Amino acid sequence: MKAVIYERYGPPEVLRLVEVEKPAPKDDEVLVRVRATTVTIGDVRMRSFTVPREQWLFARLYLGVRKPKRKILGMELAGDVEAVGKHVTRFKAGDPVFASTMEVGFGGYAEYKCFPEDKVMALKPASLNYKEAAAAIGGGITAARCLKRGNIRPGQKVLIYGASGAVGTNAVQLAARHYSAEVTGVCSGRNLDLVRSLGAARVIDYTREDFTETGETYDVVFDAVAKFSPAAAKRALKPGGVYLNVHKHSDGERGGGMMLDELLFLKGLLETGVVKPVIDRCYPLEQIVEAHRYVETGRKRGNVAVAVAA
Ligand SMILES: NC(=O)c1ccc[n+]([C@@H]2O[C@H](COP(=O)([O-])OP(=O)(O)OC[C@H]3O[C@@H](n4cnc5c(N)ncnc54)[C@H](OP(=O)(O)O)[C@@H]3O)[C@@H](O)[C@H]2O)c1
Repeated sequence: MKAVIYERYGPPEVLRLVEVEKPAPKDDEVLVRVRATTVTIGDVRMRSFTVPREQWLFARLYLGVRKPKRKILGMELAGDVEAVGKHVTRFKAGDPVFASTMEVGFGGYAEYKCFPEDKVMALKPASLNYKEAAAAIGGGITAARCLKRGNIRPGQKVLIYGASGAVGTNAVQLAARHYSAEVTGVCSGRNLDLVRSLGAARVIDYTREDFTETGETYDVVFDAVAKFSPAAAKRALKPGGVYLNVHKHSDGERGGGMMLDELLFLKGLLETGVVKPVIDRCYPLEQIVEAHRYVETGRKRGNVAVAVAA
């Protein structure tokens, strides 16, 4: 099968499209024919090994000391079940699925991926195409985890900083449509219309205005890109208001690992149209280097999808 691998940390050019052996499902596994995956900022950081100093050792041990241990990146995917092991009961051949690969060693940048059936995989929402389904997962679950900690009540004022990224575009939709909050989205001028279209009642262009100096205060301030000073952001909170930061508050309730119930919760939101993934660009697998170059700019709007197979 075709797969994109990386055998050393470095620039986008370390990614290579090669032929590797097609995996075969074990008795408790599902073989997925991958249709779409994504390039996230997380993929870019793993490929380039760009991590904060304090996480260097842990990240190196996890990802591979001398070279990457898991050669195929791709944290989320959507595709069709091609075959199932003899003990599998949740899925059958032909099922369209979407999945997080965080708990199974990544692997979205390949034509096939095997999953134990109890991992973070579910039937794809019928309303989404494969690219949208793959792109829905990471930003959606991360935004949901963070906002849950805000205990948001209907009508409360919620500010989302970095509203145009993968996490931000999900957070705006969730805060406005799931929590019925009055949302202010902070982004650059070129993304104001996008963020408004996602349900923000107000938008602020951070290149022209500092939201902490407008005199407005909020019940929740969520920094979805971790690019604003926490101390300054807290000054825009109402008394008793909650400050949330995507780097500090995105762990799951049972640790960092992604859980099936989180994917199923997100699936419900996607099926009812509360959340719709924003796709900025889509690249074929053959252009994964270009996709990484683009995501590395830090300027993508929502998500970058990768078409693996038609
Ligand atoms: N996506 C995930 O699945 C996930 C999961 C866990 C944690 N995280 C973490 O959450 C953070 C955000 O991830 P992401 O995937 O949402 O990032 P992203 O999509 O790569 O963020 C890009 C967006 O951020 C905006 N931006 C850049 N600089 C900004 C600034 N100074 N102020 C406000 N907005 C700015 C950009 O628009 P402009 O340049 O036009 O402003 C662009 O739309 C990352 O640190 C990531 O590690 C992400």
